[in-house]
Amino acid sequence: MTETIVLEKGRLRVPDCPIIPFIEGDGIGKDIWQNAQAVFDAAVEKAFSGQKKVAWLEVLAGKKSFDQTGNWLPDETLDIIQKHLVAIKGPLETPVGGGIRSLNVALRQELDLYACVRPVRYFKGIDSPLKHPEKTDIIIFRENTEDIYAGIEWQAGSADVKKIIQFLQADMGVKKIRFPESSSIGIKPISVEGSERLIRAAIEYALENNLNKVTLVHKGNIQKFTEGGFRQWGYELAQREYAKELETGQLEISDIIADNFLQQILLKPEKFDVVALTNLNGDYASDALAAQVGGIGISPGANINYLTGHAIFEATHGTAPDIAGQDKANPCSVLLSGCMLFDYIGWHQVASMITKAIENNFANGWFTADLAGEKGLQAVSTSQFTQNMIDFIQKS
Ligand code: NAI
Repeated sequence: MTETIVLEKGRLRVPDCPIIPFIEGDGIGKDIWQNAQAVFDAAVEKAFSGQKKVAWLEVLAGKKSFDQTGNWLPDETLDIIQKHLVAIKGPLETPVGGGIRSLNVALRQELDLYACVRPVRYFKGIDSPLKHPEKTDIIIFRENTEDIYAGIEWQAGSADVKKIIQFLQADMGVKKIRFPESSSIGIKPISVEGSERLIRAAIEYALENNLNKVTLVHKGNIQKFTEGGFRQWGYELAQREYAKELETGQLEISDIIADNFLQQILLKPEKFDVVALTNLNGDYASDALAAQVGGIGISPGANINYLTGHAIFEATHGTAPDIAGQDKANPCSVLLSGCMLFDYIGWHQVASMITKAIENNFANGWFTADLAGEKGLQAVSTSQFTQNMIDFIQKS
């Protein structure tokens, strides 16, 4: 019988046939989702000898949804994800034109998915700009709800910005706005709660996965109360809630200034296990880290609220309209986000099987066109890539 995943006493209760909603995605979404789903099903079947099975439930969003319902993000989609907690999505076309929010942002905000989680690791066979890309194995926890992404800004020259500058100068004694007549102003909120819940999630992840180093990345040398607050609240939280783990060495907490972090991930990436960052720093670091293992096109991601259990796993690339419908797209981003999903629901053996099958493809020189071209190899199609994985899983 198919059932809903629920959160009980802070832990997910996952039935044998959980209902998991999926958003196919636009453009290459169809190409990659259908093939990825076949891999997921084969791995679940193999791992549990048919005793468990995912009941995939399609929900609509994006262009496909607009074409069918006239709505880019129907309430029903949000309601179903709200109810079933865990979902997976392909890339969504961002509607062009005023008044429509980015669908990805809307999903994150509606479900308050405060942690953006990005594992960054190297797959042998992928081209990387580093000499030793295998030394990079880092889990990024990026705060997803605060910082400049709150979108609180006033345009230079507007009546509103004049009010703000007047208030800052007259009431707050601010004297350092270099060009007050022509400045735009933006506000960066960083809270205790927002920082703590993200850093707690990073620490919990580290402890659960026997990774002992958690590094707080910040720009607190310049922004003492926002970025510096993130750092300070992180240390205080660790001392208050994880004193025992700190004492036994099970957890080591440290911090690093963001610019030095971007240097160190190139020079000594092995120094980091789990990193917690504010939203903007996390944005930069996610792409920089993915690029240094050559994985920008295959990186998975998840947006999670560990308190409610809600989690959406996603391919991080776009809809690639230039290759849509041609059976050429690289399915690894959605496949690896599926691995994150299976790990999240505790089906670790499924995640491990899928990861090994990807490694096996690369070891055999089976790459999709985006990666094969660089090596002068004959590319395999999306469906061939995933069929090779299924064959490997069934034989293993
Ligand atoms: P894009 O990621 O779709 O494409 C950039 C380049 O990378 C293209 O040459 C494309 O062919 C290639 N590419 C992307 N994914 C690939 C894959 N899996 N396999 C092989 N090649 C791949 O970025 P672009 O062109 O900026 O955006 C296209 C649309 O996607 C826009 O509507 C954008 O808003 C949306 N988008 C959605 C995202 C999401 O839903 N998470 C993220 C980024 C963009």
